Amino acid sequence: MKRLGILTSGGDCPGLNAVIRGAVLGGALTHGYEFIGFRDGWRGVLDDDVLPLPRRAVRGISRLGGTILGTSRTNPLKEDGGPAPVSDSLRRHGLDGLIAIGGEGTLAAARILSDTGIKVIGVPKTIDNDLGATDFTFGFDTAVQTATEAIDRLRTTGESHHRCMIAEVMGRNTGWIALHAGIATGAHAILIPEHRVTLNQVAAWVNSANDRGRAPLVVVAEAFVPAGQDAPYSPRGLDTFGRPRLGGISMLLEQQLQGLTGIETRATVLGHIQRGGEPTAFNRVLATRLGMAAVRAAAAAEWGTMVSLRGTDIITVGLDEALETIKTVPESLYLEAEELFG
Ligand code: F6P
Repeated sequence: MKRLGILTSGGDCPGLNAVIRGAVLGGALTHGYEFIGFRDGWRGVLDDDVLPLPRRAVRGISRLGGTILGTSRTNPLKEDGGPAPVSDSLRRHGLDGLIAIGGEGTLAAARILSDTGIKVIGVPKTIDNDLGATDFTFGFDTAVQTATEAIDRLRTTGESHHRCMIAEVMGRNTGWIALHAGIATGAHAILIPEHRVTLNQVAAWVNSANDRGRAPLVVVAEAFVPAGQDAPYSPRGLDTFGRPRLGGISMLLEQQLQGLTGIETRATVLGHIQRGGEPTAFNRVLATRLGMAAVRAAAAAEWGTMVSLRGTDIITVGLDEALETIKTVPESLYLEAEELFG
């Protein structure tokens, strides 16, 4: 019997379970694979913490948020022994290869492991939508929907109190969630890391909305850097992949904007709410297709690749290409949204 391992690693996002189901069912029904899962990402590989994944284990899970396998930000290459414990694990369990579902950090580790001969297929996952080689990552659509619902609620309380409301969304170094949720909620200003804006300009947009009797709404991405400052707000150090932990810029903006405009202002950090809950239908479909495609890639021995969405097709791209570019919000898209600010 052919065997594959599967793991979910890095920050979770809605749709992980649909990928697992797509892979296990597609693998069993079309390619004759059986699966084992590693618990909590690379930690499960290093600690030999595994569970069998027969067909019945994935019954009905595509609508569930989170991941039945658990996840962690364990970096397999930071532990003693480098890639060796990973290849030992594959050998011990008689695995043909590994499907690693993860974001930029996970895929970077997968590429290094792949360069040492370990057979890996990547599946791109992140609410941030920041991977260049795929048109959309699953998880993004759900995060935008969740943020939109939350911001709609902030609007009604803002209107009752005639306040300026600031909603801070995730997205790491890109403004995709802010842009989409901001357009969807009719924000009076959207602030993203890709585009510098002075606080005076933000205050002008806020004042303009307020002058028309509206409760101003500002949607800000966690890595937004106001003009005049040189790095995103990151008071909480680095994560295990050495990346700054973001969050909290809206609290600074609350004070600064209230000072500049004289309008009572309240900030809300939406935080991990955006990563939780049930995936949207769009995400379930994309995740299921990516899971099935990952197994097809394994069956075709396309190791060292990542499955990705191009238009409506699922294709495979090399892990090198997959990690080449961070997908940032193009200036033209931002300028289009900006036409409606204020
Ligand atoms: O990459 C997904 C993400 O949610 C980012 O948007 C955010 O900056 C980060 O992960 C938060 O990470 P953690 O869950 O480790 O706090």
